[in-house]
Amino acid sequence: MKILLERQSHKPIYLQIRDRISSLIKSGALKSGDRLPSIRSLAESLQVNKLTIIEAYNVLEADGIVSARQGSGYFVNSVSLKSANLESTFAPAQNVIITKPGKCSFYEMYTPLVQAQTQPGMINFGYGYPRPPKDINLIARRALKQEDADIFFPHEMPQGQLTLCRQIAQMLVHQGLEVFPENLIITNGSQQGLSLAMNYYVQSGDWVIVEAPTYYGAISILENLGAKIIGIPMTAEGMNLDLLEKYLHSHRPKLIYTISTFHNPTGLTTTQTHRQQLLALAEKYECPILEDNAYEGINFDAVPAPIKL
Ligand SMILES: Cc1ncc(COP(=O)(O)O)c(C=O)c1O
Repeated sequence: MKILLERQSHKPIYLQIRDRISSLIKSGALKSGDRLPSIRSLAESLQVNKLTIIEAYNVLEADGIVSARQGSGYFVNSVSLKSANLESTFAPAQNVIITKPGKCSFYEMYTPLVQAQTQPGMINFGYGYPRPPKDINLIARRALKQEDADIFFPHEMPQGQLTLCRQIAQMLVHQGLEVFPENLIITNGSQQGLSLAMNYYVQSGDWVIVEAPTYYGAISILENLGAKIIGIPMTAEGMNLDLLEKYLHSHRPKLIYTISTFHNPTGLTTTQTHRQQLLALAEKYECPILEDNAYEGINFDAVPAPIKL
């Protein structure tokens, strides 16, 4: 199967593959009952990771276009594709949500989620933890062997272990960010990082812009700070920038909180253009952006550079 991939494109590779196979089916080149190439052979011919093909086939299956038959591969479904809706139907109502300051504790939001998770068959889309790699034990053991065990036990400087700060700074410099180890703070996960940054920028009574919907943990920090939250609706491209400008102008918020890569909960990654437009608006109204990049490291294909770049 010939699929021309645009490796520089912002469109993830798995979606390019999905679109190409959909159009082959639409055009009749692939007919109902036809078998798709095996995951391995397509991965080899396109020179991509097998996971990318699995992702593309999973999306085609979710679209109802193909079905997996155990042990035999993926087959084109017999549904009439002309009637199948292959276009994205992501179009939530463009209503801005404005909250009044409340006292919403993280635990009040989180506890029912954890409780619900114990029910069989429950899938939680509220947060995204990657499945640990199968060889995590091996990796951990190897790392422990390489280091002198003494480094794990002493108390560290409040900003975190300097060796780790140096490693992270190096990684960010490779991405093009101008960062020194002294600019970094190691936190117990993103939640604490968000809390530190929000505490710095936001005071009780301040207006803050978030995407609607957004990560519930961010809302709980803002509510505890006494912030007044403006939820700007998502479009298929990301936060609705027309509405954003309107509220930047009318409410002069103190912060814009955005999840630009693998947005929680929609999964959307905004384009470079959308990021630049968002930045231009933030600069125009002198409003800092807090970019939550919790998920950037779990991408299979290239994602646009962080807004800070
Ligand atoms: C967008 C986003 N930011 C931050 C967090 C918190 O991450 P952590 O578990 O590292 O504190 C989550 C968790 O689901 C999240 O979805």
